[in-house]
Amino acid sequence: MAVETGIRIVEEDDSGIDKAFRADVLAGLSQRQKAIPARWFYDERGSQLFEDITQQPEYYPTRAETEILSTRGAEFAALTGAGRAVVEFGSGSSVKTPHLLRAISPGAYVPIDISGEFLRESAAALSVRFPGLPVFPVEADFTKPVALPDEVQGMAMLGFFPGSTIGNLVPRTAVDLLRSMRETLGPDSQLLIGMDRIKDESVLEAAYDDAAGVTAQFNRNLLTRINRELGGDIPVDAFEHLARWNDLIARIEMHLRATRDVAFTVAGRRFTMKAGETIHTENSHKYDPRSSAALLLAGGWTPLADWTDADGRFSLILAEASEYRMAP
Ligand code: AVJ
Repeated sequence: MAVETGIRIVEEDDSGIDKAFRADVLAGLSQRQKAIPARWFYDERGSQLFEDITQQPEYYPTRAETEILSTRGAEFAALTGAGRAVVEFGSGSSVKTPHLLRAISPGAYVPIDISGEFLRESAAALSVRFPGLPVFPVEADFTKPVALPDEVQGMAMLGFFPGSTIGNLVPRTAVDLLRSMRETLGPDSQLLIGMDRIKDESVLEAAYDDAAGVTAQFNRNLLTRINRELGGDIPVDAFEHLARWNDLIARIEMHLRATRDVAFTVAGRRFTMKAGETIHTENSHKYDPRSSAALLLAGGWTPLADWTDADGRFSLILAEASEYRMAP
């Protein structure tokens, strides 16, 4: 059965299980290094826990990015000009958006999110704050090219992808996403994108293993979700949260480590893990100015400016769609 929700089609079988979730979990648990894509963290509880993470003293990215957004508005405006349609990818609750919208005199706002309910609520709230601004929410999976509303066709676009969500993707997939965004936004577009910076290992590991244990709860909630939605019996208490810096690839990796030998069933399939074995649940790639430029260029975007917070922890980069032309 296909359930039509706006323009996204959620494939469910008769027992109401999201097929994509089940397929990802079963495939991931069948690998030698078990792994589950990080996007499955965000059920209702997971989204709430992520909000709580952003309030933890160790988790600096949200505060650092908000500092840049709230202090560099005049510089954004000088480079973007007025009248662009701001297209936000994975808009969620759109908390960071008002800073940008206030700064640049946009022609329209197009939030894109896979969760329709969240999307409509936050779009409505934003319309109240910006009465003159046309808002056209689009419910879609932004990892593929998205058809933008007719009302914004002909406007120059400014993509907005804050939060260092790009860091969740391995560079190969990140490049695919950047190319897809270029396709969605068109030839004269710009992109304002947040990327977290490489920094001291102890600062990074603390940000992903806060003292209050909120990130640990966030990580383990994935197992609770699997048990509930996929009919699993994973012993959640037999898994501990692990966050470690992979210096060669410049990323934080989160894992769930079995503290004893375990056997469990998910969607009718049986899995076993030895004590110490892990499920890899998230990557968070960090960049320096040159590696972020290389990633953007590979995805078809030419950097125009790179702003950081006062402590140099986080960076917001403005890029323009690279022209396809003869290069020397
Ligand atoms: C939402 C992907 C930006 O990688 O920092 C926070 C998610 N995971 N703590 C990040 C996350 C653990 C976050 N992003």
